[in-house]
Formats: sequence, structure tokens, C-alpha cells
Amino acid sequence: MSKNLYVTTAIPYVNGAPHIGHALDYLLADVYARYQKEQGNTVRFQAGTDEHGNKIFDKALAAGIPVEQYVTENSDKFREFITSLGVTPTDFIRTTSADHARRVQMIWEKLAPHIYSADYEGWYCSGCESFITDKEYEENQGICPDHQKPYERLSEKNYYLRIADFKDQIKEAIEKDQLQILPEFRKREVLKLLADSPDVSISRPKKNLSWGIPVPGDDSQVMYVWLDALSNYLTVLGYPEQDISDYWPADVQIVGKDILRFHAIIWPTILLALGLPLPKVILSHGYILANGQKMSKSIGNVVDPLEILGKYGLDPFRYFFLRHIDTFNDSDFTWDKFDAAYSGELANDLGNLVQRLAVLDSKNDVTINYEKVAEDFSEYYQLMDSFEFSKAFDYAWSKIKDLNKDINDAEPWKVAKADSEKAKEILEKLTVRLLNYTELLKPFLTDTSKKIFDIFQNPITIPNPLFPKA
Ligand code: MSP
Repeated sequence: MSKNLYVTTAIPYVNGAPHIGHALDYLLADVYARYQKEQGNTVRFQAGTDEHGNKIFDKALAAGIPVEQYVTENSDKFREFITSLGVTPTDFIRTTSADHARRVQMIWEKLAPHIYSADYEGWYCSGCESFITDKEYEENQGICPDHQKPYERLSEKNYYLRIADFKDQIKEAIEKDQLQILPEFRKREVLKLLADSPDVSISRPKKNLSWGIPVPGDDSQVMYVWLDALSNYLTVLGYPEQDISDYWPADVQIVGKDILRFHAIIWPTILLALGLPLPKVILSHGYILANGQKMSKSIGNVVDPLEILGKYGLDPFRYFFLRHIDTFNDSDFTWDKFDAAYSGELANDLGNLVQRLAVLDSKNDVTINYEKVAEDFSEYYQLMDSFEFSKAFDYAWSKIKDLNKDINDAEPWKVAKADSEKAKEILEKLTVRLLNYTELLKPFLTDTSKKIFDIFQNPITIPNPLFPKA
């Protein structure tokens, strides 16, 4: 039976242009969406931009651009970036939109029974837009390891959300995998953080944070960006003004490992306080490193995805970032690795295979009677269903490699000399296998899979090389 599914992606801060690290959320969500649509399901796919907070405001100020213009320009860059990855979300939300702001204020009012006000005296990292406990402060010796900036000391009145009201319920949901945290090894980290988590501040005084959504009923306070941002997953569906039960709870929410804590503690608290069910899965992916290091402007190793896309094109980009960047663990990008994957794997394993078969098929007047799935691909489906996307891609690729070997072993060009009917039969079987494997590649290599199906229509056409020498 066809299902309605909902996949979400983290909404990036618009304090700069997209870099390769931002690609992963979209690509993973896209693979999921395409795979599910293939099975006949309807997929709602949210993306958007996180546009409030001091970090962004200060950047606009430094650039000398009105903040509204600054966030619009950067939000547009992300939107274009998503399109350039061959990704088509059904919804794109901006947290500065009027619909979002109004709905977040309504959410705030619904949360009121779990909100109290108190003085905050402690640390803050504006890079993370996160309040820092004394313990974290000590562990990191006063400097944010992610942003290499000293923590700020705050002394201010805030509103707090009572995490304590829901801790036990969240803990149980995570332990029982009702809220499944993937990968499994992150679950323990999350449970530990949850156990230690104090109530969270969800507002800041306007004098310290002006660029944000006003707290209803208190002119002096503005909402903390994470409350504003997390709510996007609901407001984009129209909540609380519209019925969201067709799509909520989300089937999978995709986030980077650095923001899992917000999604596994504050977010479930908000949902439970609203009386809403928890998402089914939170998939936390690893980090993309550049030459083995975290990308950072100060090191100067930030890789521009548009440069890769411009040089190599879309499917090579999708190939590298979906197969060689592990879905769950940190992985490294270097131009050399990318180039090796392009020439050694895409061009060699797949491009040449297609070329060879197309030439042999047309020489031998092969016609293709293609019926889907002649082999048992249950391993692939199991991997896809458990969100092990890079492993599923590896599996599909191993089939392509097997096929290369089998062509070499079968030597249809030799057979053709002695027995043309026999050669035809062999080639048809090999080609049908290629098409079956291409089905498995569809969610990953979107253009290439279409091209391959086009080539092996009857009559078969001989293409230009799919992956020419770069
Ligand atoms: N605005 C918040 C998210 C709010 S979601 C309600 C945020 N923005 S971000 O721009 O810093 O990050 C956006 C996404 O990109 C996150 O999922 C983050 O983990 C991911 N990545 C940013 N750099 C990355 C890498 N180098 N590698 C992989 N993903 C990384 O956090």
C-alpha cells in the first residue's frame, strides 16, 4: 500500500555560501525520497534556511548590507545549490517568512505550561548558537573546539523550557527505538547528554539579540534561534494552523552529528510538550573533511561544491559524496581521491562497460527484452531500508564489477565468430543484468541511469563516452 512519508533536512545558517559539507543533508534525503518514490510512496521533502540570530546579523553588519537583503541573497544561494545537486524538495522554508514567524509564536503559546523565566548566568557560543554548561566550559578550557572562539559570559533573564518534564519519556523512546537514533553508536552519546541536560533557555533579551522572532506577550525578549529553527519542521507543514497528520511524525530527519544533540533533546521536548508524536528516525551523518582536516575559513581549506560540479558534472559529484563519503562516519574529500574515483571507477567500471556492451550489442543485432529483477537483491533493499545508503551503493557497484568480470570471462566477441545466435543470447543476458543493476543505481546516479536505459532501447544506440577524460 502506498504510504505518505516525510523526510526533513537541517536548515543551514545563511551566514555564508554553501560548502561541500552542506551537500550531505540534501543528497541523503534525496536518495531516500527517490528510493521511496520508486516503491510507489508519496514523499514530502522539506528544506530551507535558518536566518535569525546574532551570528547572521553580525555578518550582515560587517558586510555593510541590510540584514534582510543579506539573508535573502544567501538563502537564494542555498536554493540554487540544492537544484544544482539534482535535488527537488517539495517545500523550502525560510525562518524569516511571515507564516513561519506567526506559527512559531503560536507554538510558543502552546508550550507555555512548560515555560518559566529565570536568570541565566553562564557561557554561550555564538558560533554554535548554544548555551554552554560549566562542565563543557571546563572540558574545553573556555574555547569552543568547533569555532576556536572563547565562550562569551552572559548574565541575563531568559525563558526556559522544562526538559525535566519529559526526560524520562524521551529516554524511554530512544532506548526502545521508538525514536530511533542512527547510527546506533550515537545513541549512547545522546542518552548520556540527555541525562545531564539542564532545562534549556529558549529566549534572549532583545538588547542582546534583536534579529529574531519576538516572544509573544513580552516585548523585551526574542526567541532563541534553536526554538525558532527546530519548529520549521512543523511550520512548513502548516502547524498549528493546519492538520499535519498526513505527514507527521516524520519518517526520517537528517542532520549532521554536530547538531544531533539539539534534535535529540530540545526537539523531542518541544514535540512532547505540544502533544505531538516523536519522529521515527533521526539520521545523524558524519562530517566531510578536506585533506583530513575540518574545513575552516581560517585554515583556508573550504571546498566550493560549485567548482566540483563545474569541472565534473552532477553524477560524478553524487557518486563521490554518496559512495565514498560514508553515510555515518567522517570521510575525507581531496581532489586526488575525487579524480581517482572518477577515472578509475565511474569511467572505467561503468562508462566503459556501457560503451562496450552497446558496441557489442549493435554489432550482433541484439534486441533487449527487459524485465525487471531477475536476481535476488534483498541485501540491497535491506541496506536501503536501514538507511545504510553508502553501503547499498557499494553493493550496487560490486554488481557492476562482477558484470565486468563476467563479460571478460564469457568473451562474447570470440563466441560471435563461431556462433552468432549463442553470442546474441549471451549479450542479451549481460545487458539485462546491466539494466537490473542500473535500477539499483537510480536513486544515486540520476542522469546516468536515465542515459543507460535510453541507450539500451531497441535499437540500441552507441553513446559518446558517459564519463570522458576530465
Ligand atoms: N542552522 C543549524 C541547523 C538548524 S536545523 C533545525 C545549523 N546550520 S549549519 O549551516 O551549521 O549546518 C547545516 C547542516 O550542514 C548540518 O546538518 C550540519 O551538520 C551540516 N554540515 C556543516 N558542515 C559539515 C561538514 N563539513 N560535513 C558534513 N556536514 C556538515 O547547524
